[in-house]
Amino acid sequence: MFFCEIRKSHRIHFYLCLGTAKGIYFIMKATLEKLRAEAWRELEGARDARELDSLRVKYLGKKGGITAILKQMGSLSAEERPAIGALANSVREDIEGALASRAESIDAAALSERLRSEKLDVTVPGTPAAAGHRHPMSIVLDEARDIFISMGFAVAEGPEIELSEYGFDKLNTPPGHTVRGWSDTFYIARDESVHLRSQTSPVQVRYMEAHRPPVRIISPGGVYRKDELDASHSPMFHQLEGLVVDRGITFGDLKGTLNTLVQGIYGEDVKTRFRPHHFPFTEPSCEVDVQCVVCGGTGCRVCKGEGWLELLGAGMVHPKVLAGVGIDPDEYSGFAFGVGIERMTMLRYTIDDLRLLYENDLRFLRQFA
Ligand code: DAH
Repeated sequence: MFFCEIRKSHRIHFYLCLGTAKGIYFIMKATLEKLRAEAWRELEGARDARELDSLRVKYLGKKGGITAILKQMGSLSAEERPAIGALANSVREDIEGALASRAESIDAAALSERLRSEKLDVTVPGTPAAAGHRHPMSIVLDEARDIFISMGFAVAEGPEIELSEYGFDKLNTPPGHTVRGWSDTFYIARDESVHLRSQTSPVQVRYMEAHRPPVRIISPGGVYRKDELDASHSPMFHQLEGLVVDRGITFGDLKGTLNTLVQGIYGEDVKTRFRPHHFPFTEPSCEVDVQCVVCGGTGCRVCKGEGWLELLGAGMVHPKVLAGVGIDPDEYSGFAFGVGIERMTMLRYTIDDLRLLYENDLRFLRQFA
């Protein structure tokens, strides 16, 4: 068996020494030296821990080269045995040492490869995160809010699902009034007692029921009407309501306050026009126009040659509305107004289609960054 194994890789020694007792000793010696040289060579070429492991098995394992030699020690003389034993040990130690140092350099190479490939250059400028910005309606609403807060107004809110008692009755709009029709209003109850509010005006009533004069509030929020969506209508839009009640409030206060709003939003030189109108909850009532933001008042396509654009509705709070919430109209007076936030925004930025405000087209919105 020994000869067969030796023969495979050490044919020359085998033939040279065959048949002599000394021959076995020399073959074993040469084989051990050869194993050492071969192991070194192979270890040089090993690229990872797995390859190292299979080399460890091949040379040092139970069925490895050195063990095969050691198993043949019996064929040696008593003098030869220690020499071969010592040589086998030194070969084993050499191979073990070479395995360890190769393992070390493989580890080191792997580490430096990782350091190279995972290198992070902290000085490279970062990828900027896309920052959002306010919607044009929020920009205009924030400006309006600031203007009113600077005049001492508080901000109040009310429900979008409203009792018709507040949405209509207490605003001097009795059953049968055209604006209460099913064709205009989204009713939630069959008996018409609850609806999606069609204006922010009910907040006036709710606020006055809870607060005594002086009252000075604005109230922004969503409102709903049975309108088809087109360039100037939407079934849901937003209003900003205003209400002032105190002793001695006059139409002059109304004009001064709304002129302050218009000039703050559209510019110092922009003029306003107050036209008589009708609202059930104000008396007298008016509509307020601003000078056309496109032509400045000379007349153009946008203002249809008028020079003016309608902005909002307003008036002196109707005595019946004040009395309805327990405020004596002989002692107190007030004014109120309601402006569409979409409309205010469209006039501010000359936007000609309401739908642009809802579509979230970034090409449109980015203009307001
Ligand atoms: N609520 C009215 C509308 O939606 C706007 C309005 C007009 C509000 C006059 C008021 C007001 O407070 O006094 O058309």
